[in-house]
Amino acid sequence: MQTIHPDVERILIGEDEIREICARLGKEISADYAGKNPLLVAVLRGAVVFTADLMRSISCPMSIDFMATSSYGSGTTSSGTVRILKDLETNIRDRHVIIAEDILDSGLTLSNLIEMLGSRGPASIEVCAFAVKDIAGYTPPVTPKYVGCHVPNEFVVGYGLDYAERYRNLPYVGVLKPEIYS
Ligand code: IMP
Ligand code: MG
Repeated sequence: MQTIHPDVERILIGEDEIREICARLGKEISADYAGKNPLLVAVLRGAVVFTADLMRSISCPMSIDFMATSSYGSGTTSSGTVRILKDLETNIRDRHVIIAEDILDSGLTLSNLIEMLGSRGPASIEVCAFAVKDIAGYTPPVTPKYVGCHVPNEFVVGYGLDYAERYRNLPYVGVLKPEIYS
């Protein structure tokens, strides 16, 4: 049985489901990118845990690089603007880029990132999001080609996702108790 952190209200995606998600996405990517040597771009810091699992279930040759953007600071709502804190070290001209993201919420972070990377002449850019937050009546500006799971419109932590830099190390995704951030 999974032990639950006292600040977490309930577990949404447990370790077994996470394993299945990564295996499925890795399989899809391996088939779609055979012979294309894709560059997997992990968006720091949240996507690190997911990327580490995902890349180990990709069986075709690939490389990895990292980017850091600022979005939420230590709050729980999107600031709307995205700043590049750390850029790629890889030249992506003519490369097939797959952006690995922890969660797609408003999609602002990703749409900014895609626009920025798109201007560098890659062969293609797709998004692999571990989770997509379902927000009633809202259509995000980005549609990921690969989606691990859907989560409700609540603030979630774990498996790389943080609140004020905490909880990234939880091995599952759970809903944070509202009293922790209100
Ligand atoms: P977006 O720009 O609103 O799509 O937000 C993207 C980023 O915000 C994600 O990469 C996460 O780092 C963070 N984020 C969005 N929703 C959550 C959440 O529920 N918990 C933790 N971080 C989140
Ligand atoms: Mg993030």
